[in-house]
Amino acid sequence: MLSIYRKLNSSMQISRIEFKTIEDIWQTELWPNRTSAIESHSAMTWPFEGKPQSIDMNIFDYPATFLGAYIDNKLVGVNSGHRTTDEQYRSRGIWVDPEYRKRGVAQMLFLMTAHQAKVEGCEMLWSIPRKTALPAYTKFGFETVGDYIVTETSEANIYVSYFLPTI
Ligand SMILES: CC(C)(COP(=O)(O)OP(=O)(O)OC[C@H]1O[C@@H](n2cnc3c(N)ncnc32)[C@H](O)[C@@H]1OP(=O)(O)O)[C@@H](O)C(=O)NCCC(=O)NCCS
Repeated sequence: MLSIYRKLNSSMQISRIEFKTIEDIWQTELWPNRTSAIESHSAMTWPFEGKPQSIDMNIFDYPATFLGAYIDNKLVGVNSGHRTTDEQYRSRGIWVDPEYRKRGVAQMLFLMTAHQAKVEGCEMLWSIPRKTALPAYTKFGFETVGDYIVTETSEANIYVSYFLPTI
């Protein structure tokens, strides 16, 4: 799969970025109307296995990874991720510059996020995309779980999961 995306996006590079870099983009582009503080992690848990508390502050102890997609040395997309349990990994805060959408930037960011989840020993990747962003997730292979819910940052979001292939 990686080689396919390399061919599609030979000029694209995915690199780790600092939290401050992604925070600025989240604040101005992704969550401009958000009133709560933007943090490096989300304490939300995957609610569909076992009976977890909806919030787990221990999640902040896992390392978070912040990724940037660069085309011609321009930062055109971001995503982040971190474990929420030892086996589960959250993909959070994907955003792609409108001028660079619909050319696979999000797919590359998901691929590298999935890779990081695998490196950290996880079995599944999950997220809560907006309805409007869902097609980019399902194209990657995420599947929806449950119904749409209302969140602080969007009218309609839905849980999605992606089972990481075993190597
Ligand atoms: C959601 C979002 C991240 C998707 O980013 P993207 O880089 O445009 O997504 P991709 O290009 O990977 O895939 C999206 C579409 O492009 C198409 N596409 C992917 N690679 C392509 C290529 N090489 N050539 C043409 N089209 C391509 C996909 O088929 C998909 O189209 P479809 O939905 O009609 O099937 C972007 O629209 C965005 O930033 N939205 C605003 C912020 C947001 O809502 N973020 C999510 C918060 S939950």
